[in-house]
Amino acid sequence: MPSVYFQTFGCQMNTADSDTIHQLLSQRGFVLNDSHINSDLIVVNTCSVREAAEKRARARISEFANGKKNHQGQKLWVTGCMAERLGDALILDIPGIDLIIGAKQMERIDDVVESQFPKCQDDDNPSASIFQKTTVTDFVPIMRGCDNYCAYCVVPYVRGREMSVPYDTIESTVKQKVDAGIKEITFLGQNVNSYSHDGIDFPELLSRMASISGLERIRFTTSHPKDCTERLVDVMASSPKIATHFHLPFQAGADRVLSLMNRKYTSSHYRKLIDMIKKRIPDVDLTADILVGFPSETDAEFRETLSLVKDVRFTTAFMFAYSPREGTAAAAMPEEISKAEKMARLAELIALQTEITREIYEKTVGREFEVLITDRQQKRDMAWMGQDRGCKRVLISCENAVAGMIFNVRAVRSSGMTLIAERIES
Ligand code: SAH
Ligand code: SF4
Ligand code: F3S
Repeated sequence: MPSVYFQTFGCQMNTADSDTIHQLLSQRGFVLNDSHINSDLIVVNTCSVREAAEKRARARISEFANGKKNHQGQKLWVTGCMAERLGDALILDIPGIDLIIGAKQMERIDDVVESQFPKCQDDDNPSASIFQKTTVTDFVPIMRGCDNYCAYCVVPYVRGREMSVPYDTIESTVKQKVDAGIKEITFLGQNVNSYSHDGIDFPELLSRMASISGLERIRFTTSHPKDCTERLVDVMASSPKIATHFHLPFQAGADRVLSLMNRKYTSSHYRKLIDMIKKRIPDVDLTADILVGFPSETDAEFRETLSLVKDVRFTTAFMFAYSPREGTAAAAMPEEISKAEKMARLAELIALQTEITREIYEKTVGREFEVLITDRQQKRDMAWMGQDRGCKRVLISCENAVAGMIFNVRAVRSSGMTLIAERIES
């Protein structure tokens, strides 16, 4: 059987896209290889969000392209956002790439894969369609693209216009996954709050999903503060299946910067949203994306970001130094902050957030809560990884567990960003 090796960079949308390509290849007899060395096909799924992400992808692609010389017949595909941004120019840069599949082509990926590897017509052959996930948690994209054009962001250019997946398609995808043993689904989109199809909006979608039997947990990402409503938070609060985790990127604390970023909300609007969420979901885990060093951001404005972080107390946060992306509105803005200044701000922010994360994890020690067992911890006997209803990872030592089980535990210790817990009989 031919084999394929995947290297996926970037966000969960890319992970979901790699899964889709993997599934199409499995239907054509490909098996997954955990090493690139002897694979017949290597797929590198790329990200363009920051320059560093592109650099990492380029280095890996070059390495694979060089390695091809020793493996006759090996093919190299480059997919995703950088493939979209640079197109065939990438092949000129790195000879050895056999095929470029830009992110926008994911809409017609069935045809693209079919053109490379026509499917064998023998549908009765069971080996032609083995695609089994070994996990209990999975992603379902409900939207593609983005129309928000935040000034710093390349995503609208590489992913195209915002589109909601038809409700029926989402429902049948979820049911299929649940039938195959999936317990937890994360709904994906660049701004899931603006989901809309045939009169169904995002709160309605979530409440319908919560009624699917066998689906135990529901997560979603990403939310945009400008479109996040009280009704959505009410739906979350009303269903025990929906995770008590809200990822709500705020990017910057100063209104002048938010306006330059084209984010369309103020810092006081964001604070009000957070208060409303905390009131309705008292145990909520809040997380965010935060960007420092946007063109012209002053030190005083950066301090407003720090003060928001102190006030909200996020469980964790993804923190980035601004990286100019060609073609975006911000790339044309003057007064770029020096690299040293950006890095100093980022380090200060990370230090503050790390301390808050540590305190929040410490405070959880001694508490009882429910976990979903996701996988076995490779290095130890009787050790399992799981997740609470929020966003905390939990290491549990117990006998007779299997992935997919849900039971109560008590946190006995916290170590970095993991809680150590023991099972309690119920
Ligand atoms: N649609 C999502 C996520 C987009 S990309 C959202 O709106 O939240 C993930 C994060 O990368 C963004 O939230 C932002 O914090 C960061 N990011 C985007 N463009 C960036 C850039 N040019 N430089 C640095 N970080 C960036
Ligand atoms: Fe980028 Fe903004 Fe769209 Fe998120 S909402 S993908 S940050 S343009
Ligand atoms: Fe995701 Fe990176 Fe593309 S963050 S949408 S893979 S640019």
